Amino acid sequence: MLKGKNIVVGVTGGVAAYKACDIVSRLKKLGAEINVIMTHSATEFVQPQTFQALTQNPVTIDMFETPRYWEIEHISLAQKADVLLVAPATANIIGKVANGIADDMLSTTIMASTAKVVFAPAMNTKMYQNVIVQENIKKLKALGYSFINPDSGRLACGDIGEGKLCEVEKIIDTVLAIALPKQDLQDKNLLVTAGPTVETIDPVRFITNHSSGKMGYAIAEAAQSRGAKVTLISGPTNLHPPKGVDVISTTSALNMYDAVMGHYQQQDIIIKSAAVADYRPENPSDIKVKKQDGTLSINFVRNPDILMELGTKKTNQILVGFAAETNNLMEYATGKLVKKNLDLIVANDVTENGAGFGADTNIVHLIDRQGNQTKIEKASKLEIAHKILDKILQLK
Ligand SMILES: Cc1cc2nc3c(=O)[nH]c(=O)nc-3n(C[C@H](O)[C@H](O)[C@H](O)COP(=O)(O)O)c2cc1C
Repeated sequence: MLKGKNIVVGVTGGVAAYKACDIVSRLKKLGAEINVIMTHSATEFVQPQTFQALTQNPVTIDMFETPRYWEIEHISLAQKADVLLVAPATANIIGKVANGIADDMLSTTIMASTAKVVFAPAMNTKMYQNVIVQENIKKLKALGYSFINPDSGRLACGDIGEGKLCEVEKIIDTVLAIALPKQDLQDKNLLVTAGPTVETIDPVRFITNHSSGKMGYAIAEAAQSRGAKVTLISGPTNLHPPKGVDVISTTSALNMYDAVMGHYQQQDIIIKSAAVADYRPENPSDIKVKKQDGTLSINFVRNPDILMELGTKKTNQILVGFAAETNNLMEYATGKLVKKNLDLIVANDVTENGAGFGADTNIVHLIDRQGNQTKIEKASKLEIAHKILDKILQLK
């Protein structure tokens, strides 16, 4: 299955290092060529010989040992990797990569690689929840590094909570999905909108909403990896667009309307995940509005309803909308599906823990035209994106 694929597995110094033996063994059985890089701390937990025997390749630990072949090893490993998996990933390696530190073989190889890097963190709950660790994870995610969230449970230190290395099965599935992405959207044109819109009040003020764009960007990444030609129309976000995607940057709802209308005809699939303002100030001021006594009123006028218009105009396109609600979720979502002539609606209750704006995870319900409902339990936005695409491909 993984024949011809090169996987570099980085093993760092945590108790879960022994589980890396199982991970390496399974990847090897799937046919991958595997090179293990251990940190010095990792060798306190597992012997390099174990990985050497499992992979039938030398294990690399030290950057300055005499090279086995005439090549600079961190560069050659970095270049040959199809996937670079770090499992278990300590708080230390996450912190080093997030801050550009390359002071050993593993951190240097990660820095020199353009392959997809996946971290499977494992550590004490307090360490995992430490704001510094969370900020580092957030930074790396925004830069395109992937994370497989740890599980909750009883940890080696006796604490109970988040931080346990996730199931080995899940790590293998993630590596498989990256190394062998399904190509079931080959030759499909897919347009996805993401992020908020920004409506001007005056040259220094605007109104917007809390959309981070993460869900739409995850859809763009998932679709691109499955072979689609992706156009991402994005409001202002702090995210880096996925590689290989055409990006059109927009600001206001009118701006996004023009971009969507200019591109919808050539699409096979349109997914509208942007949070578009329903209203905009009627007369934005050309000069800064000065403070006055009493209250201030701003008149708002309706923005065009992009989704509704696409529902009217669409020909062969599959049209997917999002409903982010705080109450009466299923009722509002079903109403929107019918009213706007959608093929599928992705409904989420933004008040739920682990769902909605800004979060890295989501919990959604998919409702199709036949009224079939599927709940996708809490998962990363990338996993949810793949499930939405799976459902789109099953639509009749
Ligand atoms: C017994 C023991 C268990 C440890 N387990 C973890 C762990 O699960 N996760 C973690 O982030 N650090 C853990 N540490 C701390 C790391 O080993 C330490 O931060 C080290 O510097 C990591 O180096 P590395 O990232 O280069 O492997 C543990 C330390 C000891 C002594």
